[in-house]
This record gives sequence, C-alpha cells and structure tokens, in this order.
Amino acid sequence: MEIKQVKFVKSSGSLKDCPPAKLPEYVFTGRSNVGKSSLINMLVKRNELARTSSNPGKTITINHFLVNDNWYLVDLPGYGYARRSRTLRNQWELALEEFVKNRENLQLVFVLVDSNIPPQKSDVEFINHLAEWGVPCAIIFTKTDRLSQHKVGVNVQLMKKELLNYWEELPTMFLSSANKKRGRAEVLSFIEECNAQFFDTLKK
Ligand code: GTP
Ligand code: MG
Repeated sequence: MEIKQVKFVKSSGSLKDCPPAKLPEYVFTGRSNVGKSSLINMLVKRNELARTSSNPGKTITINHFLVNDNWYLVDLPGYGYARRSRTLRNQWELALEEFVKNRENLQLVFVLVDSNIPPQKSDVEFINHLAEWGVPCAIIFTKTDRLSQHKVGVNVQLMKKELLNYWEELPTMFLSSANKKRGRAEVLSFIEECNAQFFDTLKK
C-alpha cells in the first residue's frame, strides 16, 4: 500500500468521543518505550506524527489518524504505564477495555512487543485479555536490529510458548525495525487485506 496522505483527526478521552466508526480501524499499542512512535512514523513515513511520547497523561488518549482517506490508524499509548498510580492505571485500563471491546469498526489491535527482552508479564496478560474479549490482534516485535537474529528468534519462540498456554492458534506476528525499515511492507499489506475484507462485507 502506498501512503499518500495522513491526517491527524483527533485525540479522544473515551469511546463516545471518537470519530464516526465508518472506516476500518487499527490500533497500535504496547508498553511505554516499546518503539511505538518510531514504528508508526516508519509505517506512514512521517516524522513526528505520533508525538504522544512525553505525556504521561492522567487520562487515556485515543489518537486517530486518517490514512489515504480510507482507514484509521489509532495511536493508543501504552498499557500498564509505570508512572501512573494504581487508580489511574485501573481507570486507564477500563477505558482501554471499553474502547477495544466496543469500537465497531476496529479490525485489529497491533500489540507491539520489544524483541530484545524475554516475554513480559504485562504483554502476555494484555494479549490474553484481547483473546478473552474476542478482539483480533497481531503482534509486532520491535527493535529487531539491536540483537543478533538468533537472540531475537529465541525471544519470539519464548513468547509463542507463553501464548500457547492460552491460545489455540497463535496471532499473526511481524518482525520490525524502525531503524532498518523492516516490516513496513508486511504490516501495510496485512492492513490492506483487512481493508479489502471490510469494504467487501459492506457491499454485501
Ligand atoms: P513512549 O511513547 O515514550 O512510550 O515510547 P514509544 O513506545 O513511542 O517508543 P519510541 O518510538 O519513542 O522509542 C523509544 C526508544 O527506542 C527511542 O530511543 C528510539 O530511538 C528507540 N527505538 C525505537 N524503535 C527502534 C528500532 O527499531 N531500533 C532501535 N535500535 N531502536 C529503536
Ligand atoms: Mg511514543
């Protein structure tokens, strides 16, 4: 897919404030510092598009970007944010849960996972929650340029093993590097296929 245009639409505090749910939508989320902003910017080839980084935020921000006037990219700052208090974290988690469970046009949640470290409890829990809620997800392993491919492979295998305790069929997985532009074509064609399915179903 060629990225012709990206427009920031709005930041919403909750599901009810989000833009009309008419176009297919994809969430990008993950723990803080996982490389979310870098990945989003690499995907849409815009620098500083996703600049949600320095705001530890007391409330959830659901950031909608309209791509090619055809689909929404949603930047959803990391779950389990370490600097939040427990109460804020719970509020945030509830808002996130409300959003991913009820957003009608949501096609898929891309969960970003750092390929440089073994599976983290918060990642595994979040991915398992998505399964429990029946929300489709895919995993994008980030920063694969940092370690040897062997070590990246080991972490990916550990994650698969972890998830197989819970999942019958593993979610789709991508290896990415914002620095090396790795994974861009794969993720974008995956989105393109999902978009095609969305518009096909509309026609029927
Ligand atoms: P917050 O918004 O602060 O939670 O972080 P984020 O998830 O948006 O991560 P960000 O893109 O800001 O990247 C965090 C750090 O990882 C930065 O120092 C980036 O330069 C680095 N980083 C991001 N992607 C890559 C990558 O593909 N390879 C390498 N080597 N470093 C990366
Ligand atoms: Mg960021």
